[in-house]
Amino acid sequence: MGKRRYVIIMAAGSGTRMGGPLPKQFIEIRGKAILQHTIETFLQACPGISVVTVLNSDYIEYWRSYCLRRNFTCPQMIVSGGFTRFHSVRNALDKIPEGAVVAVHDGVRPLVSSGLVREMFEKAETVPALIPVVPCVDTLKVLQKDGEKLETVEGAVADRSMLYAAQTPQIFHSDTIKAAYSLAYDTMFTDDASVVQKYGKSLSYTIGERLNIKITTQEDLLLAEAVMSLRIKG
Ligand code: C5P
Repeated sequence: MGKRRYVIIMAAGSGTRMGGPLPKQFIEIRGKAILQHTIETFLQACPGISVVTVLNSDYIEYWRSYCLRRNFTCPQMIVSGGFTRFHSVRNALDKIPEGAVVAVHDGVRPLVSSGLVREMFEKAETVPALIPVVPCVDTLKVLQKDGEKLETVEGAVADRSMLYAAQTPQIFHSDTIKAAYSLAYDTMFTDDASVVQKYGKSLSYTIGERLNIKITTQEDLLLAEAVMSLRIKG
């Protein structure tokens, strides 16, 4: 039998770049909060998975009453977020026992497919850290800012064939990620993989999904709406 499965859904950000009154994870797409879409994908992929939802303490009551109103009754352990994403993950890891497999996923990535989640959990049984990445298709420039002006950095070349964008869910053996998060905070920690790597553990990679975007701007919201409509029709 496989290890017990957990997902930590990160939703404690303020999401101010979207501009509206509500943080973006609570905006509705096709009549349902982005956060609910995201949690439902994990429940569909892995029935019986334990869900830990990390929220800004100002929005815990809001989310509880939203779920009640919508009859969204999935059991969730709700945890208060921290100052940065790193501190939010660290708070949530207190709820995760040793000997389990745990996915950490951004609440604002509702388009990840349940197929990818299922496949990743299966692969993650045998490796301590599994990270989804997509190859970079754009030509990247290494530039520096002089005030508002962008300038060439002589000799700095980004070799596209070696560049990949990291996504979530990132899946870990709980012993590995819990130990890694005992490290002191570093501003270079932009995802969980960077914490685990700094701790000295090797990472395994799998190809992610181009549509698994982190909803950040109004354009992302339009794209997510379009994709969800097509998936429902398809
Ligand atoms: O800020 P960024 O876009 O990198 O946030 C990625 C995810 O981490 C979002 O889902 C956000 O809600 C979450 N987050 C968090 N606690 C913070 C900051 C961000 O849970 N303090």
